[in-house]
Amino acid sequence: MSDYLKIYEVGPRDGLQNEATAVTTEQKLRLIDGLVKAGLRHIEVTSFVHPKAVPQMADADAVMRATLQKHGDKGINFVGLVFNQKGYDRALAAGCRHMAFGVAVSETMSQKNTRMSTRQALNITRSLLEQARRDGVWTRVYLITAWVCPFEGPVPPHKTIAVAEEVWAMGVDELALGDTIGHAHPLEVGRLVEDLGRRLDINKLAVHLHDTQALGLANATAALQAGVRIFDSSVGGLGGCPFAPGAAGNLATEDLVFLAYKMGLGTGVDFDALWQVVYEMEQIVGRPVGGRIRQWWESVCRIEPALAYK
Ligand code: COA
Ligand code: ZN
Repeated sequence: MSDYLKIYEVGPRDGLQNEATAVTTEQKLRLIDGLVKAGLRHIEVTSFVHPKAVPQMADADAVMRATLQKHGDKGINFVGLVFNQKGYDRALAAGCRHMAFGVAVSETMSQKNTRMSTRQALNITRSLLEQARRDGVWTRVYLITAWVCPFEGPVPPHKTIAVAEEVWAMGVDELALGDTIGHAHPLEVGRLVEDLGRRLDINKLAVHLHDTQALGLANATAALQAGVRIFDSSVGGLGGCPFAPGAAGNLATEDLVFLAYKMGLGTGVDFDALWQVVYEMEQIVGRPVGGRIRQWWESVCRIEPALAYK
């Protein structure tokens, strides 16, 4: 089992999509600069969705173009989230060559999020994956509400497994299980991941966790013990879905990086540089942000900087 974690940073997309404060394109680009500097190599920078549905992502085309222009030669995967053909066409036109698609396992969530049924979303995803293969685009598919739906409650594991197997059979580079509202617990996270790990390639399975009930790190640990090595997180712990009531912030990147550090697992992230991005995010949204490690980390740094973990 690999002793390296792939961190898939979602701060510029999931982190900002639900943010009430207007965030300019320039601010987003500075944020992305900071993430690149901190060593993050997989960054979901925006979503090509309807600007009325998610106004914060209305500048998707500009953000993707400018990011690729500035950092396109560094071997970093800059991902755009896409739900339909129009989104795919916009992403491709902006130069995007790494795309994430999404299917909500729960029917109500699917309707609220994208105005389509789970079956329609699966059919669209199949078509987008085929085009992506032809266009040489790297792909990920999110299974939204893999454990719990804000409208329907617990999602039966057999439903998530069925959707996962169907998407897997379509041919995808990465499959991400989303605890969209952060209500899953470690035992069910471990169980589902173990089960899916037997059915498909666990090295291509990611978990997308939210920290709503303070179980983000516990859930990450359960997935880690079951063999997962790809984790989504958001710098400063920002995040939430405008269509999923109760969804609080994502698992914070600084918490995840620290967990990996404690366990002797590599991430390639420079912890000090990451803090600069946390503070930048704080400036952008105009309120305190930061994962659960922040208070302890700052107290230690103030008292004994030599203790600072690298
Ligand atoms: N980008 C921009 N415009 C889009 C678009 C996209 N990706 N998809 C559709 N549109 C436009 C169409 O061109 C059409 O415009 P027109 O009326 O001027 O011709 C109009 O929107 C309606 O098109 P339709 O295909 O019926 O889409 P929809 O209104 O059902 O919207 C989604 C579908 C998926 C684009 C929309 O529900 C959405 O953006 N959801 C956001 C999901 C999300 O980001 N969730 C959070 C992350 S999980
Ligand atoms: Zn999310």
